[in-house]
Amino acid sequence: MTKKLFIKTYGCQMNVYDSARMADVLAPLGYVASDTPDDADLVILNTCHIREKASEKVFSELGRLRPLKAARPGFMIAVAGCTAQAEGEEIVRRMPHVDVVVGPQAYHRLPELVARASRAAGAALDTDFPVDSKFDHLPAANAAGGAPAAFLTIQEGCDKFCTFCVVPYTRGAEYSRPVADIEAEARRLVEGGVRELTLLGQNVNAFHGRDEAGREIGLGALVRRLARIEGLARLRYTTSHPRDVDDELVAAHGDEPKLMPYLHLPVQSGSDRILDAMNRGHTAAQFRRIVERLRAARPDLALSSDFIVGFPGETEAEFAATLDLVREIGFATAFSFKYSARPGTPAALMDRQVPEPVKDERLQRLQALLRAQTDAFNAACLGRTVPVLFERPGRHPGQLVGRSPWLQPVHVGGGGEVGEIRPVRLTRLATNSIAGDVVDEMPAGAAA
Ligand code: 5AD
Ligand code: SF4
Repeated sequence: MTKKLFIKTYGCQMNVYDSARMADVLAPLGYVASDTPDDADLVILNTCHIREKASEKVFSELGRLRPLKAARPGFMIAVAGCTAQAEGEEIVRRMPHVDVVVGPQAYHRLPELVARASRAAGAALDTDFPVDSKFDHLPAANAAGGAPAAFLTIQEGCDKFCTFCVVPYTRGAEYSRPVADIEAEARRLVEGGVRELTLLGQNVNAFHGRDEAGREIGLGALVRRLARIEGLARLRYTTSHPRDVDDELVAAHGDEPKLMPYLHLPVQSGSDRILDAMNRGHTAAQFRRIVERLRAARPDLALSSDFIVGFPGETEAEFAATLDLVREIGFATAFSFKYSARPGTPAALMDRQVPEPVKDERLQRLQALLRAQTDAFNAACLGRTVPVLFERPGRHPGQLVGRSPWLQPVHVGGGGEVGEIRPVRLTRLATNSIAGDVVDEMPAGAAA
């Protein structure tokens, strides 16, 4: 009997990957995807706990689902992901209509949890960090609906314990998948039509998976291995940590043409005192040096980053050091957040928490600067011809939407197909993407 499954995903790309894998795990039980909760037999909320706002969303969504649950016998609700891990007991207590609570490392057990919950009253809860990896129990991942760009988790968890961050507690200890498993999954995805792979990990460049000979290899070597897969055109990875950018990875950026010239490298702050209080393990000068090395290897590398404003004790001068670093480095894109105290993390207990209005004001100043840098980066691309991987049809007939090597969203009126990489001359900045026209060929000597 087929049953309908609706998964709502919050948070990072890792959650997007996990949601797809949850659907894979439940497929043998007859669950097929639905795009609305209204006719679903099972709704999964795959939650994020990174900031307070993110984790509050789950409680309001569960409130909205309550009438559905009351109206439809047999309708089930599961809460998965990082808020499930951190607040499982609380969810069950406050939301008794929840049937299943499952953490990020235990979702391969969804079938038995769903079965258990449907047999008995009360929620089935599993927030273990099992000794054996979920990857050993998940069915093989397949290319999702022919989409040409896919995520592949190669590493999970984190041992770095930045003082603001819940990830070490919600995702657990650092773990790298074996190289052969990763390569097999990559090959299957490419056979299914995938042209671009984004390798995922909370700390992706801390990757140290074992190869067939039992040797540990790093991300640079893994990139080189995966780049040999025929039919795979592009590789990316996210999210990386400045401390784990090693020479091998820098070299791969220099001479592996399939590795795209775009890097998300969170720095969080430009102040050494704040970086130290965050336990980031590097100074602002060391970050500048890493960027120099990367740019020396790959001059057209576009950088992206994450920033936190209003970390406990941050003074105006320390915030100004962040603005200085941004001005000096220049980012193609960036994400910036107000510090959000997370229960159980060391920074939540620090003195001198910054008042909300001060955080607001700093965020506005930082975002204005970052927005100007993004606009300038995109404007500088107008008139250039760049290869674009078409990922999906646009809203208008014939229209195609894709990405440049620098991850810029690009749309064209026609002239290609989903899954193709075509030269596109960029002509105009639109609201959320760049408009362009497909042309016959790349100009001689063009990069990427
Ligand atoms: N408050 C605000 N931002 C946070 N991030 C992580 N933890 C917090 C927090 N407690 C941001 C960091 C990280 C990104 C994923 O989220 O910038 O790189
Ligand atoms: Fe959110 Fe972090 Fe969990 Fe991703 S890993 S869902 S960003 S808390």
